[in-house]
Amino acid sequence: MGGQQSGNGKLYEVRGSEIHGRGLYAAKDISKDTWIIQYIGEKISKKESDRRANELLARTASNGGARVYIFILNKRWDIDGDVPDNDARLMNHSCGPNVEAQIWDKKEIWFIALRDIKKGEELTFNYGFDLEHWQDHRCRCGSARCVGYIVDEDLWPELQRTIASSQKEEDKKGSKNGKSRPDGGGKRAVKVKKGKKMAKSA
Ligand SMILES: C[S@@+](CC[C@H](N)C(=O)[O-])C[C@H]1O[C@@H](n2cnc3c(N)ncnc32)[C@H](O)[C@@H]1O
Ligand SMILES: [Zn+2]
Repeated sequence: MGGQQSGNGKLYEVRGSEIHGRGLYAAKDISKDTWIIQYIGEKISKKESDRRANELLARTASNGGARVYIFILNKRWDIDGDVPDNDARLMNHSCGPNVEAQIWDKKEIWFIALRDIKKGEELTFNYGFDLEHWQDHRCRCGSARCVGYIVDEDLWPELQRTIASSQKEEDKKGSKNGKSRPDGGGKRAVKVKKGKKMAKSA
C-alpha cells in the first residue's frame, strides 16, 4: 500500500466537534495517502456483533443516542472499536470526507488521507451506511455536498428518490404525520467496497 505512515508523532488531536460530540482534528498538515490512524478494537464473530448491536439498540431506543463502533472486517469477523485506546472511534461522518477507511492485509483497518489536509481540519470519513433506516441518521456534517443523511455515496441517487417519494407521502398525509423519526435507532451495516471502506452500526 502506498503513502506514508504516521510514525510516532501524532497526526491528529481529539477535541469537541461541531458535527457531533468529540472528533479528530489534524494536528499538522497531512499529505494525501498518509496512513493517519489504525482502527483498533476487539475482533468478534458476526453472531457476537449482532448481539452487541441489538443490545446497543435496546439501550438507546428511548433516547436515540446510539453511537456505533463496530466495523465489518470481512465476511466472518467484525471489529468492536469501543475501547478507550481507539481514538479512531471518534471520527465523525461527512458527505465530503477527507479520509477513507481501508482494510490492509485482510486484518487491519486504517484511516488514510484522501487528499492533502490542512492543520486544524476535522478528519472525517463516509460511514457508508446503507439505505435501510436512512431517516434515523440525519447528517450534520456541514459540508457543501451534504445530502442530509448518513448514507453511502453510491446510494445518493437512490436516497434522493427515496426522500422525494417520502416527501410526497408526507404531503398526502398532511403535516400531522409528516415528521421524520428521531436520530439514532435502526441497526445497519457499513460496507467496505473492493477492500476499502467498512463499518457497522446499530
Ligand atoms: C463512532 S461515533 C463518532 C464519535 C462521536 N462524535 C462521539 O463523540 O462519540 C458515531 C456517532 O457520531 C454521530 N455522528 C457522527 N457523524 C455525524 C454526522 N455527520 N452527523 C450527525 N451525527 C454524526 C452519530 O450519532 C454516530 O452514531
Ligand atoms: Zn452530510
